[in-house]
Amino acid sequence: MRQSDWQRVIDAAMAPALEYLQSLQQRRVYPESVDPDDLRRALGGPMPTRGAAPEMVVADLARQVEPYVTSHATGRFFGFVIGGLHPASYGADLLASTWDQNTGLFPVTPGVAAIEEVAVGWLLELLDLPSESSVGLVTGGQMANFTCLAAARNHVLRETDWDVEALGLQNAPKVNVLVKEDGHTTVLRSLRYLGLGTETAIPIECDDQARIVPEALERALADLEGPTIICVEAAQINTGSFDPFAEVADIADRHRERGDATWVHVDGAIGLWARAASSHREMTEGLERLDSWSTDAHKLLNVGYDSGIAICRHAAAHRAAMSTTASYLVQSDGETRDPMDWNPEFSRRARGLALYATLRSLGREGVDDLVFRTHALARRFAEQLAESGLARIENEVVFNQVLVRWLGPNGEDESLADRIMDCVRTGGEAYFSGTTVDGERLMRISVSDWATDEDDVDRAVAALLECARQVVG
Ligand SMILES: Cc1ncc(COP(=O)(O)O)c(C=O)c1O
Repeated sequence: MRQSDWQRVIDAAMAPALEYLQSLQQRRVYPESVDPDDLRRALGGPMPTRGAAPEMVVADLARQVEPYVTSHATGRFFGFVIGGLHPASYGADLLASTWDQNTGLFPVTPGVAAIEEVAVGWLLELLDLPSESSVGLVTGGQMANFTCLAAARNHVLRETDWDVEALGLQNAPKVNVLVKEDGHTTVLRSLRYLGLGTETAIPIECDDQARIVPEALERALADLEGPTIICVEAAQINTGSFDPFAEVADIADRHRERGDATWVHVDGAIGLWARAASSHREMTEGLERLDSWSTDAHKLLNVGYDSGIAICRHAAAHRAAMSTTASYLVQSDGETRDPMDWNPEFSRRARGLALYATLRSLGREGVDDLVFRTHALARRFAEQLAESGLARIENEVVFNQVLVRWLGPNGEDESLADRIMDCVRTGGEAYFSGTTVDGERLMRISVSDWATDEDDVDRAVAALLECARQVVG
């Protein structure tokens, strides 16, 4: 490609990109019309025989796809748990695309591998986790859970004299897996990937805030022998609640003392960042005594998609579960860190750049403030909705998640949640998503965008209440 072509392609991408970013505050959150056939017509057709100029392809993409983009970073997207976009992450990701580094091995791509090394060191400092822990940068919470549980499987079986990496699970000792009955689906999906099975996982009772009941865990363990994995959570998907980590750690210690290899994993996709905030750190006490922690930087930290993090106290188990060697590879001599040793991918993007840039730009104070602010805004939602008399808040708002039950003239009416959310989404002002708890439809609010402010919350509440009045009639 001639040098001048880069300029054209950058212009084709960056002019609409800048326009998009600068219009975020005014943008509709959800596309005005979503007709999959329109999209297919615009983008589809047979595979072209003749090529097209790169800048033309990029300009067409921007023009044709942008009307269908969901604007997560408007400050008014409150569905699922989806972070916004920190500018430092965005800029660093542009460099990652520009440099196009295959970030598997330090000797091959030293610059970006070194950045990753620094970023994972900062993470352990920020989250105050054991300094000997190993860290893998993966695509998201799903793969972070998978990676940590792969390390867990290695560790508990190795302690039972079984090398699962070499021998697989055929004829292996049974691994007991205990999960929360209200735990995240990605934990079960990881168990499926790892050959541990979903139906064999033992569900442990949770309280009305979806926190694990320690006595129920202890009771379940009393009947179990052999290698054991326990899964708990920092911020449950619906309530944002944190499990009683210190009690879980004591129970796991007692189980270990009986001679059973035991590993406790924390799914902290949403809430591990609480540990970095003076306002919330107490809720994570005892978590540092456990064995592995997963989190997402693309959620509350507002690193661009995709960015998940797997952290293990037992680096040897983590490495054994993930690493590989081949005679043609140029691997580190042990003095530097090869990213490939800590994540399931072989080739991959320089994911650490955006993480490094966001951590550096926010600093400790910025992360502290992010946690404090998103919690305060979640409470603002809860207070205003409760005051309206049209809704009831179903959870203790301890973090960034709010669980809302809409009320009709005759009280609870679970048909309202989806209709009200649809109305707001169609209006374009904000976006909310639902959930089913104990068989009942509720609305969830997740404040996860660093750009959200009081005005965004007030706008979103006004849109919700207007729709609620319309829907209730
Ligand atoms: C508690 C929890 N764990 C895991 C995940 C999966 O994360 P990801 O979507 O980044 O794979 C989520 C997603 O919301 C989550 O809330």
